[in-house]
Amino acid sequence: LSHYIKNILGGLEGSVSLLRMGIDASDDSMMNEAWDTLDKNQKRLSSLMLDLLNLAKEDSIDLGMCDFCDVISEAVELVRPSAREHGIEIDFDSRGALEEPLLAEIDSRGIHRVILNLLRNAVDAVIERHHGTDQGRVSVEIKAENNGATLILTTVDNGHGIPPEQFDRIFEMFHTTKGDRGTGLGLAVSKRIIETHRGTLSVSSQVGVGTTFSVRLPTRHLDTSTSIINITDL
Ligand SMILES: Nc1ncnc2c1ncn2[C@@H]1O[C@H](COP(=O)(O)OP(=O)(O)O)[C@@H](O)[C@H]1O
Ligand SMILES: [Mg+2]
Repeated sequence: LSHYIKNILGGLEGSVSLLRMGIDASDDSMMNEAWDTLDKNQKRLSSLMLDLLNLAKEDSIDLGMCDFCDVISEAVELVRPSAREHGIEIDFDSRGALEEPLLAEIDSRGIHRVILNLLRNAVDAVIERHHGTDQGRVSVEIKAENNGATLILTTVDNGHGIPPEQFDRIFEMFHTTKGDRGTGLGLAVSKRIIETHRGTLSVSSQVGVGTTFSVRLPTRHLDTSTSIINITDL
């Protein structure tokens, strides 16, 4: 993680000096290059900070009623442009066979974070395996069970897959196979957010075939017992 942070800080520092030079020399291409690096690194930094903030929170969530489909759509649309840059389409049929909104009592920002992390991992795995081809696939599916009392979200990719002996380790904090490009926080924070909702996050995967992550979430938290309390914005 320290390498990852140092990379970001180095990128920010470098782009700020480059921007200064570009401005002094009225050099548009230098300014544009500086802006690209600045943009990329501020996104990485804010994503890292959000994961860290989520990990630093007590086991508490800010529950509110919302349409689960909207939360997923927002996250999908955020990841879509960078996936497209690598020739990857994210399939998500926001309504599918559903006619009614999928109302759920969830911490929408937390669940948004989970979906982003799952999608970014799927895209990373697909890029690594299908780099430079158009064979990469990522899809998101949702369904309801138990008369709407449980929502199930699955992300499916045909990336490089995960060997079974790593199934437990991937949820550990700081476990990453991406070297300096990974933080190893995404799945740890996601699992924690889901479990605070009293849901489950599980994985099934086959090396060379792909990976599926499944989130099961209860849609109601009628018994607001002690472990679930509302906290104000961080
Ligand atoms: N969809 C996936 N396909 C293959 N490997 C995955 C997938 N999602 C997660 N992993 C593995 O789990 C590890 C931990 O993921 P994560 O906690 O998000 O950290 P990071 O993405 O920073 O490495 C990844 O480094 C990768 O090895
Ligand atoms: Mg990740």
